[in-house]
Formats: sequence, C-alpha cells, structure tokens
Amino acid sequence: MSVIAIANQKGGCGKTTTAVNLASAVAVNSKRVLLIDLDPQSHATLGLNIESQNSIYNVLSTYTSEKLTLKDIIVNVEANFDVAPANILLGTLEQELSDEIGRELKLFEAIKEIESDYDYILIDCPPNLGILTVNAIRAAQEVIIPVEPSRFSLIGVDRLLEIIDLISTRLNHPVKYRLLITMFDSRLRHSFQILNAIKEKYSANLFKTIIHTNVKLKEASLSGQSAVTYAKYSRGSKDYFYLASEIMYRKEASLDNIMRQMVKEKVKQLGEITFSLQNPNAQEVYIVGDFNNWKASEENKLSRNNGGSWVKRLTLRPGTYHYKFVVDGEWQEDPSNPNKEENNFGGYNSLIEI
Ligand SMILES: Nc1ncnc2c1ncn2[C@@H]1O[C@H](COP(=O)(O)OP(=O)(O)OP(=O)(O)O)[C@@H](O)[C@H]1O
Ligand SMILES: [Mg+2]
Repeated sequence: MSVIAIANQKGGCGKTTTAVNLASAVAVNSKRVLLIDLDPQSHATLGLNIESQNSIYNVLSTYTSEKLTLKDIIVNVEANFDVAPANILLGTLEQELSDEIGRELKLFEAIKEIESDYDYILIDCPPNLGILTVNAIRAAQEVIIPVEPSRFSLIGVDRLLEIIDLISTRLNHPVKYRLLITMFDSRLRHSFQILNAIKEKYSANLFKTIIHTNVKLKEASLSGQSAVTYAKYSRGSKDYFYLASEIMYRKEASLDNIMRQMVKEKVKQLGEITFSLQNPNAQEVYIVGDFNNWKASEENKLSRNNGGSWVKRLTLRPGTYHYKFVVDGEWQEDPSNPNKEENNFGGYNSLIEI
C-alpha cells in the first residue's frame, strides 16, 4: 500500500485537481484507492458532490462529541474509488492539536486501521504548512508537489522541502518527493522558460508527465465528477492517466524498463528471414511482397555479395507472405523456393511462411 500526500502551500496550483483525477485514473486501472480530503475548504469533497455529516475531523479530533474511525466516514464515489470527506470543522483542528503529544501522528495512526483495504491512499492537503499538512507528510511515503508554471510558482517549494526533510530526519520517517508541472500552457513562451528553470533545479525529482491546461478539468469538478469519468478522452484525463501509470509502474520498475521489456517481448514474436538470389549479372535487385506493399523502394533493395548472390534480411511477424524479386526492372519468382501461388496477373508469386 502506498500513501501519497499532495501538498504545496501555494494556493490554486492544482493539488485538489491532481488528487481527484489521479485517484480516479488509478481506480480505473483496477487499483483500490482512498482519497483523504484533509483541507477544511473541502474542495475535493464538494468537487465530487459528496454530502456527508461526518468528516475526517471526527477521526482526528479528540474533542469531537462523535469520535469516529476512518472506516465509519468513508464514502464510495466510483468503482475502486473511496473518499474520506472533509468539512469546515477541520479548520479548528490546528488549535485543538496544539498541545497534544504525538499530534503529527494522528493521521498515520488512523490510516493503520484501513491500510490493507487499499493499494493507494492519496491525501489532498490544504494550502499551508500547518499541522494538517505535517500529518499528511508523516503518514505518506511520497509527496507530490504540484507546481503551476508562473513567475512565483517556485516560491515556497524550498520551504516545503525543508519540512519534508525535517520529518525525514527528526521524525525518522523518510519521504520521497516529486514535483508535478500543472496547468502547462504550451502556447506561452514563458511556460517553457519556467519549465526549463524547474528542470534545471529539480530534474531528479520531477515527473515526466506534464498536466496541461484543459478546461474539461474545471468543468468536471463543476459537474461533481473527475475528468477521468466526465471527459475520458480529454487532454486533462489523458494527462492524469499518464501520471497514474508513471506512479503505478515506478514501484516495480521504472517506466523506461517497462517499455524496454515490452519491446523485447514484441521482438520475440517477430521472425528474422534472409531472402537470397544468385544472379552475378544483375545490376540491382529488390524484394517486393505483401509485407512492403509490393514497393521496390530503397529499403527493400538486396545487397550484392562477392560471389554474385544478392541478399536481404527482413524482420517479419509470423504469417504467410507472397513475394517476388525485381531484377533490373523485371519481376520474377524466387527460383530457390518451390512454394508458389498463382496471382491475378496470370503468373506466380513465391510463397513463404514464418
Ligand atoms: N490543468 C488544469 N487546467 C485547467 N484548470 C485547472 C487545471 N488544474 C486546476 N485547474 C483549476 O484551477 C483551480 C485551482 O485548482 P485546484 O483547486 O486543483 O488547486 P489547489 O491547489 O487544490 O487549490 P487550493 O490551494 O485552494 O486547495 C480550479 O478551479 C481548477 O478547476
Ligand atoms: Mg485544494
């Protein structure tokens, strides 16, 4: 089970949009996801149209008249996708917890009870570095820091990294972090300038995925859904699917390794075959067939060996193929291959099975 906090004290940089859509995209990939709304503004809760009397406040507060566990407050919103909702009362928790011992462990303790029920737990943080954000980071193994490329976007990131570092060292809880570019507008030159500056400074801790500006992400939240369900084929939805795969596959291997493995498996299914023709007098020889649309082009040219034989090695998928050689402009069958089939032009094509 992975716990991921989505934090940045800068307001409006895409934390909630990321939390909701990443959760939805991971759930579509058949992983069980819980999104904990840890922001008193309750934007994730409201953006998913959840109406609930109870909230994460009842779980974390010692003074509440109705003490509940996470299991009591969880609401299901989509297949595999549950939410622990927030409400405005959460705002009072900061003060309530100010004198409590172990106050930064509250969420961590609460999560223990349900951790085997989920593959991923995402935590949407408020736009400050108070006790709620500290609780989220202490409960998490990784922090996603959404950064929207504007002039002031990097202000505060280093302060957040200091907090992550303090939690790692003082509370003996190592936490990874990665920056995520959000609301990227590729029409603006300054977006690229800021992107380059971020790459230069944080290259080792930056998601490959970039979230572009996309109106469907806004519309989806107004309609009470994730964009992944509201507008599955939108750019916004696709970006969050990419992010989900970047996160899911990192656990087992890096995305690059997975791509390499997939290519290897594909290549295994391909057969390598060498076509040859003995003709010392020919000036140029091509091979044409089903596999290259019968086109005598440069890449289908045979090479001449010293002994006067012509060869071409091709990599083809398993199957049956018709082909011919084109020798100095004349089409002819392969004389060394007895397998042939009549064609529509009154002649024969050579036949090969791979
Ligand atoms: N990629 C995007 N394209 C277009 N609009 C976006 C995108 N990401 C977020 N928005 C919009 O920008 C606004 C702020 O986004 P969001 O609420 O996700 O930020 P936040 O960091 O959670 O804010 P807060 O700090 O207040 O919690 C919202 O109206 C949201 O719909
Ligand atoms: Mg938010």
